[in-house]
Amino acid sequence: MKEEKSKIKLSSLPYMNSSLELEKRVEDLLERLTLHEKFNLTAGKKWWYTKPIRRLGIKSFAMHDGPHGVRADREGKINSTYFPSSICRAATWNVELSIDFGIAIAQEIRDVGAHMLLAPGLNIQRSPMCGRTFEYQSEDPYLNKKLAVAVVKGIQSQNIAACIKHFICNNQETNRFTSSSEVSERALQEIYYPAFKAAVQEADAWSIMSCYNKVNGIYGSEDEHLLKGVLMSEWGFRGFVVTDWGAGSRTTSAESCINAGLTLEMPAASIYSIPRLTQAYKEGKFTEETLNDNIRRLLRVMFLVGLFDDGNALLKGSRNTPEHQALTREIAEEGIVLLKNEMNILPLDMEKVKKIAVIGPNANKKTHLGGGSSDNFPPYEIKPIVGIMNKCTEKVEVINSPSDADITIIFVGLTHQVGMDREGEDKVSFNLPEDQISLIIKTVKENPNTIVVLTGGSPVSMKTWIDEVPAVVQAWYGGMEAGNAIANIIFGDVNPSGKLPITFPKVLSDSPAHVSDRTFPGDEKVFYDEGIFVGYRHFDSKKVTPLFPFGHGLSYTKFTYDNLKISHEKVSGDDTFSITLDITNSGEQFGAEVIQLYIQDIECSVERPSKELKGFIKVRLKPKEKITIKFELTKEDLSFFDEINNCWKVEEGIFNILIGSSSRDIRLQHKIEYI
Ligand code: BGC
Repeated sequence: MKEEKSKIKLSSLPYMNSSLELEKRVEDLLERLTLHEKFNLTAGKKWWYTKPIRRLGIKSFAMHDGPHGVRADREGKINSTYFPSSICRAATWNVELSIDFGIAIAQEIRDVGAHMLLAPGLNIQRSPMCGRTFEYQSEDPYLNKKLAVAVVKGIQSQNIAACIKHFICNNQETNRFTSSSEVSERALQEIYYPAFKAAVQEADAWSIMSCYNKVNGIYGSEDEHLLKGVLMSEWGFRGFVVTDWGAGSRTTSAESCINAGLTLEMPAASIYSIPRLTQAYKEGKFTEETLNDNIRRLLRVMFLVGLFDDGNALLKGSRNTPEHQALTREIAEEGIVLLKNEMNILPLDMEKVKKIAVIGPNANKKTHLGGGSSDNFPPYEIKPIVGIMNKCTEKVEVINSPSDADITIIFVGLTHQVGMDREGEDKVSFNLPEDQISLIIKTVKENPNTIVVLTGGSPVSMKTWIDEVPAVVQAWYGGMEAGNAIANIIFGDVNPSGKLPITFPKVLSDSPAHVSDRTFPGDEKVFYDEGIFVGYRHFDSKKVTPLFPFGHGLSYTKFTYDNLKISHEKVSGDDTFSITLDITNSGEQFGAEVIQLYIQDIECSVERPSKELKGFIKVRLKPKEKITIKFELTKEDLSFFDEINNCWKVEEGIFNILIGSSSRDIRLQHKIEYI
């Protein structure tokens, strides 16, 4: 009876009225909270939840990992769809697929009764050795930001909060709890910030996770300049900041975190313990007004995800549906990159190939476990060998002896085992394991028609064997349908269209982060000495030939680029100028191509990369079909960050507009002048 009464009372309060304006609901609820209740809202409990405030009907706000599927428990009792790793999704260069992925994973989050997904991971792939390269999207800020905006929009369209992470410069796992990323303002602005900034400004991300590491000497969770200054004042972030799990315990004080704008410490109170908060408050080290702003941000998101609304009125969730599983296959198929294909050995023709040897340690391996917070617990996972067998049925015999086969497919590469692609540690080697290298070399001797399929989420050295094999397929971690996706590519049911979102160096020392120990992995400090010259910006400008360049990926058909036209020869002020060109499928098969637009500033008062991606369009064309595509640019696309005046700037002069099929396969170019 008593409970009934209090329910009636609560439901009549203004903040419970879902038709009231959001900010009014927030303010009304905020005013009703006691200081102690506000303290309680600053830290989590039981790993994934905030503490409920029953008096006011504030339920626990639930958040789960992770980037590739919902990890609603840590034991795997709750199944969910295992999506391809982020680097694979990025290799699709397909913005719509990232929106669809965001929608699907949010539906899964909703279905387990949670409110926020701890993803996407937007750290730049600074080094191929970072254990979490597979969890991040790209080395390039433009590609990273386009996909970030798409994923966040997709997730939040379902009224589920996205949590973009890890802010910022968490670009390696070694010493991630203690090291300081020493990075210039220009590199932050041009390389590391853009995806976070765009996710905030263009997709209104509702949450951001601070990094474990320090940035220029200050922990991300207590960096007032970074959080209050850049994120909130400059970018207009309306959501709340949550620590990475356990990051709060390293910070110096409760007040520094409160004053910096950190709302929530997860998974439990450490720096935000009630005694610490009470003491600091009593000593006047932070004000209730400052705390209010942090709490207001969390309440806002609680309302946005419908925490106070009638469950029946919320969007419905769904999990492990055939649609989500089909989407994982589609992403994997579009993300697979055909790196090499001599004499068109691929696709395999079932009418001609009668015996296929399928060998290698990764042929029969699942990949959903071992990545750390990326662990997945799908209801099933199609292993590569199963995908190939499903396809071959009676038509082709699958054997395990290369010397007796027409073709050998060898599945090697990485997994999430210790020392490879996983959270908490960086890779121990840039090479494939020795036994895999020997296996490739031995196999090619037995059967020169050997196709290497690499699983893994980061570049590896291919120095000792790449020249010996006619074809190499980069299959990443392709999610629960990976085996079927790989088979569809190998047998040509799907024409490959993936393009590398990261440069594959020939040797590790060619990579800009690997010039010395101070640049990677560093010690107390990691020096980002390469500045803005990350990934292909370094390889191009310093004229180092990579093994496979950024944007590279072959197709079973050919595309012809012509008729480049630019709307203005001279551009000034805020003019928008357009670039059009014709693209024709000049081969024999249906296929998709990613047309990439780079700009080059011919002369500038500061050093600039010789190429910067500023646009891409993915098209699908039937044989002989031709279409005209159009890019639009403004002065922003021509600008750089001027460290002296602390602002973005474009200088007058000539710019080259480069159009290519990869960063090193430029097909058309034209100059314009900025006046
Ligand atoms: C990871 C985060 C993850 C969190 C919760 C941390 O160790 O860095 O990415 O979301 O754990 O599992």
